[in-house]
Amino acid sequence: MAGISIIGVSGSVTRPSRTTALVQAVLDRIEARSGIATRLIELVDSAPRLFGALTRDKLVGDARALVQAIEQADLLVIGTPVYRASYTGALKHLFDLVHHAGFASKPIILTATGGSHLHGLVTEHQLRPLFGFLNALTLPTTVYAVETDFLDYRVSSSKILDRVERAVTEALTQLGRQGAESAEQEDRRALAAG
Ligand SMILES: Cc1cc2nc3c(=O)[nH]c(=O)nc-3n(C[C@H](O)[C@H](O)[C@H](O)COP(=O)(O)O)c2cc1C
Repeated sequence: MAGISIIGVSGSVTRPSRTTALVQAVLDRIEARSGIATRLIELVDSAPRLFGALTRDKLVGDARALVQAIEQADLLVIGTPVYRASYTGALKHLFDLVHHAGFASKPIILTATGGSHLHGLVTEHQLRPLFGFLNALTLPTTVYAVETDFLDYRVSSSKILDRVERAVTEALTQLGRQGAESAEQEDRRALAAG
């Protein structure tokens, strides 16, 4: 799977961050199992530059490159802390700036952290519809963790790590399928061209 771009986005606006730790845990497992290098984008750093553009046409420099990298990624790992029963405003602003055409069938792992289990369905009721609008392929297993699932800002719960593993299996299976389909299409084009 050469030339594959895998990006994690942490929608947390603070550091240290449990959300960033969770996204990083997913990226670490993807790297360990696939050998593909991944990239982490932290909105705690990038959001101030993204908020400098209120519309896509006003994006410049780093902020523009970051939005384009997200649009072009083959797989995204999205994480957000729950803020007021939803994702953060910083994450929403980022996805208000992307071009929706780049997202069709893009596999996405959804993750979130919160202060309470009561908001554990934020991945289903808030994140999944957002990426559904973009026609992305959100994977079935989502990961939601609370404070007691972490130790020193690292995921320590075996239940959460099991879910991370399941989500990574789904993502790598999907990437493999999409890779095989594009290789088949290439072969057919080559045959047709003689
Ligand atoms: C402004 C704000 C709003 C929050 N709203 C909620 C909420 O509605 N439900 C919830 O379970 N936790 C809520 N929390 C707690 C955070 O979601 C939780 O501490 C999260 O793990 C923080 O992630 P971070 O370490 O990545 O910043 C809120 C925290 C802040 C600062």
